[in-house]
Amino acid sequence: MASEKMLQALNDQMNFEYVSANYYLAMAAYCADEDFEGIENFFMVQADEERFHARKFYDYINDRDGRVKISQMEEPKNEFSSIKEAFETVLDHEKKVTSRINDLMKLAHEESDYATISFLNWFVDEQVEEEASMKTIIAKLNRIGESAQGLFMLNKELGARTFTPAE
Ligand code: FEO
Repeated sequence: MASEKMLQALNDQMNFEYVSANYYLAMAAYCADEDFEGIENFFMVQADEERFHARKFYDYINDRDGRVKISQMEEPKNEFSSIKEAFETVLDHEKKVTSRINDLMKLAHEESDYATISFLNWFVDEQVEEEASMKTIIAKLNRIGESAQGLFMLNKELGARTFTPAE
């Protein structure tokens, strides 16, 4: 069995993944209000991914004989001045997630908890991908600038994203 300290830290991260899902739902709602349905879809898929991440923690805690506890969620940011600001908020948030995953990994190493190290490896890789994809979109938004046509194209591109859980 993993230590109580480790299980508590994993449970905190599971709850944070649900917080992340709500962050993205709030961004999807902002995009819907701005009539960017493709970008709304992108954030909806991202929210699905975060719930999938949370579910991985949920299952792992149970597999290690821990007791999952759901905590109250903080209110996400609901208002944005632009699509670009929404994506910059995402990138900041994902950097926070990466830092939390690194802290979990550090604790697992301190406790020589090899099963948890193996479990967390998936998240280390996932965070590299998540940060990279947000940086790519921000770079595109920087190039687009005030171009309505550029934003229209990006909206179309992000509308094609679908949820495919990576094992
Ligand atoms: Fe679950 Fe986007 O990190």
